[in-house]
Amino acid sequence: MRVDVFTLVPHAFAWLTEQQPIAGVLGRELELRLFNYRDTTPLRAGQVDDEPYGGGAGMVLRVDVVAAALDAAYGGQPANRVIALTPQGRQLTQEVVEQLATEDAVTLLSSRFEGFDERIVQHLASDAISIGPYVLSNGELPAMVLLDALARRLPGALAEGSGELESFSAELGGALEYPHFTRPPEFRGWSVPEVLLSGDHAKIERWRREHVR
Ligand SMILES: C[S@@+](CC[C@H](N)C(=O)[O-])C[C@H]1O[C@@H](n2cnc3c(N)ncnc32)[C@H](O)[C@@H]1O
Repeated sequence: MRVDVFTLVPHAFAWLTEQQPIAGVLGRELELRLFNYRDTTPLRAGQVDDEPYGGGAGMVLRVDVVAAALDAAYGGQPANRVIALTPQGRQLTQEVVEQLATEDAVTLLSSRFEGFDERIVQHLASDAISIGPYVLSNGELPAMVLLDALARRLPGALAEGSGELESFSAELGGALEYPHFTRPPEFRGWSVPEVLLSGDHAKIERWRREHVR
């Protein structure tokens, strides 16, 4: 899968790409390309934003700047899905992640300031996604959230079996995963459920199924 991220802060992604699962699939199952709007802006002095028509606080990411960035990268509008990350988008869920993970390529548009000129969302993007009903100061974090969620669905990203049986998975009927425990078996009087120490796999499996949330 190829993920292209358009951003004003490409170096923000360095930390994420050094971490698993992305580090493990980068250059193999995942091709990640980072594009800085400032590198291709048609405006002087790296300008990318402007004051909102009608007045008001804050600056707005310009449509001509984003169009120029897409033109430079793809020679026009890309054939793949173009997702604007915005609080006004449809909410990101595991179901949306699973759908997007089947794509060969996706383009993510992030913004800062007051957000996108609406024409970007209407005409340059094919989809708009919000990572939750709250406002962050930038689209880099939402892009990283989506990138991480997609990367862990790619073959080889996770240890065998660990991606199938987890919260929101079809295997658990969309429910939240059962609780996990590890050593020590007793700590400050807090003990691990006896059944998990029994070695009886059928009982353990039954206990886990009973404790999905
Ligand atoms: C400060 S926010 C703009 C908020 C906008 N003025 C509003 O009230 O909806 C700047 C940028 O951060 C990103 N962003 C902030 N919160 C987000 C969220 N919940 N989901 C996706 N992107 C978000 C978007 O790219 C947005 O354009």
